[in-house]
Amino acid sequence: MRNSDEKSPDEVRGITAGLTKIRNIPSPRWRGTRKPRISSLTQYRRLYRESLQKPEVFWAEQARKISWYRKWRTVSQWEPPFARWFVGGELNACVNCVDRHLEGPRRYKAAIVWEGEPQGQIRVLTYQELHREVCRLANVLLRHGVRRGDRVVIYLPMIPEALITMLACARIGAVHSVVFGGFGPGALQERILDSQARLVVTADGGYRRGAIIPLKENLDAALAELSCVQTVLVVRRTHCPIPWVEGRDYWLDQELEKVRSFHTAERMGSEDPLFILYTSGSTGKPKGVLHTTAGYLLGAMVTTEYIFDLRDEDLYWCTADVGWITGHSYVVYGPLACGGTVFVYEGAPDHPSPSRFWEMIERHRISIFYTAPTAIRAFLRWGEEWLSKSDLSSLRLLGSVGEPINPEVWMWYFEKVGGGRCPVVDTWWQTETGAIMIAPLPGVTPLKPGSATLPFFGVDAAVVDPEGNELPPGNKGRLVLRRPWPSMLRTLYQDPDAYRQIYWTPVPGCYFTGDAAYRDQDGYFWIVGRMDDVLNVSGHRLGTAEVESALVSHPAVAEAAVVGRPDPLKGQALVAFVILKEKASPTQALMEELRAHVARQIGPIAKPEEIHFTEALPKTRSGKIMRRLLKSVANRSEVRGDLSTLEDQTVLQKLAAARSEPIIGEAEPESWED
Ligand code: PRX
Repeated sequence: MRNSDEKSPDEVRGITAGLTKIRNIPSPRWRGTRKPRISSLTQYRRLYRESLQKPEVFWAEQARKISWYRKWRTVSQWEPPFARWFVGGELNACVNCVDRHLEGPRRYKAAIVWEGEPQGQIRVLTYQELHREVCRLANVLLRHGVRRGDRVVIYLPMIPEALITMLACARIGAVHSVVFGGFGPGALQERILDSQARLVVTADGGYRRGAIIPLKENLDAALAELSCVQTVLVVRRTHCPIPWVEGRDYWLDQELEKVRSFHTAERMGSEDPLFILYTSGSTGKPKGVLHTTAGYLLGAMVTTEYIFDLRDEDLYWCTADVGWITGHSYVVYGPLACGGTVFVYEGAPDHPSPSRFWEMIERHRISIFYTAPTAIRAFLRWGEEWLSKSDLSSLRLLGSVGEPINPEVWMWYFEKVGGGRCPVVDTWWQTETGAIMIAPLPGVTPLKPGSATLPFFGVDAAVVDPEGNELPPGNKGRLVLRRPWPSMLRTLYQDPDAYRQIYWTPVPGCYFTGDAAYRDQDGYFWIVGRMDDVLNVSGHRLGTAEVESALVSHPAVAEAAVVGRPDPLKGQALVAFVILKEKASPTQALMEELRAHVARQIGPIAKPEEIHFTEALPKTRSGKIMRRLLKSVANRSEVRGDLSTLEDQTVLQKLAAARSEPIIGEAEPESWED
């Protein structure tokens, strides 16, 4: 089945055989008094089977955990590739995350515990206080003319107002589109334009590693050529001077004083849009992933309940920014729908020192910690001494998300952070899936470092060939989901054709994830990585085409191609090959200018690690860039595979000029990835 240049799955992941093949770590069980939600692997398997055999029964049962104004008529409608869930039902996501907790003992329980990056700034909001703040913000939005269905862009640091604004939008039925605060003016403009937002909520800056991110300046640059945005609400966070447009910009604190602190939530239909979140794909333009209300909320909620086993006594910390899907599902909607207490931190993990995270875990007695492998790799590199000073005994569960976790890193996380007593839940999912799809159940699923283990209830995950036939264990193929699930994306915003084309066409009858994976003999899933031109840089999803179009937008650049190469810290690093226009000269200064240009266009995360100026790029006769060859050059590995389609056979020599060693190896068949 495998092509000759394919490495065995273990080789692909750089796994030492002993660690993964043999290691089957029992998932430590929390030694509290509480009864486990799922008590054995046998029970998981039975429930999983039932959830696939009778999905409607399973999901209807789960949906009772939501507070409805009106119960649904039909659990699901499937007109491939368009799904509808809980049709006819009415609810409000904000009411489910806030109001309903006011009726019992959770009223005075902390909903949000927040720390700013500057030391000593702590804010705690009880559910009652959160309700008040959300209602006031909802009234401000209404006062500025935002109505049900309107789009609101949120461009904020990780401060309570970010969560409050998201919930306020949900409350009035406006569709939020959160733009990561690390994105620059170009990326922001593209997202505002595509969603035709009428209002933006931002701040006078946010703290990051002691510096201030100029959010308002970025926004003003993004809005320079746009007419759709009528109002900008500005949160006072840093008290730095900022540019101001009279008649468009308003200080949020002043606006909040003009409104009342109660508001009756809108009754939303199950399938009314809740939010748009832009994510990278194979094209230069990010895709607007659209999620709707009931199915999304239910997916986020039940996965939080079962996979994080969230309880009232927990202090739960997901380190993701709300600008990413993880921040939507596991900072806001999932844990708050469960009535949990979420910890939110504004800044960088190493400010003022690499012990910051561990000090906060000790200070607040955080019990659940969910982060990305790139962060864990950074901690590992900074050294154990930074965490050995803190008391981490409050931790009971650890999570990982965003990219494959290397088994050695997994072991370090398990042993050093978790003290060998906390299960590590490696959770595989995507912006598009809305909620975790593959993950262990803590205390139940035996763990294998580096594997996301088994599918969640109702998730029909499989590894298949391009025709959709399931592959035997150990064979790498396409990771697909073979049936719709409640929290799936409904479409790409205003582009249903692309939705069909990208997700439902590559493998007949299945949702194609874009990932390659294999299953082992125990049915465990091992995610290998993306099969498309999407890179994962420090857990952030970036399309190579986006970075290419940012480079080409610079006046000195004629053409650009960007590929990834493995990076021990970031997972993947960007390597750019750039052809300059004739009048430009390839200087170090220009290289730095191009990096800064990409940072302005997209954001600092998209800055290429390396830029190579070249006279030509390897292309097929039809003009398609042969990325496989560029990847080899970027990786400093031998160029293998069929070179007969290469239009200009001298290109590789030209690219090799930057390197001393020869780069053409023996010809081998095209790899399956091409
Ligand atoms: O390649 C997979 C990787 O991240 C991609 C999804 O990126 P995004 O939509 O930004 O969402 C990230 C957070 C959910 C996937 O296609 N990925 C995500 N989680 C894992 C992972 N790869 C391996 N293991 C994971 N646990």
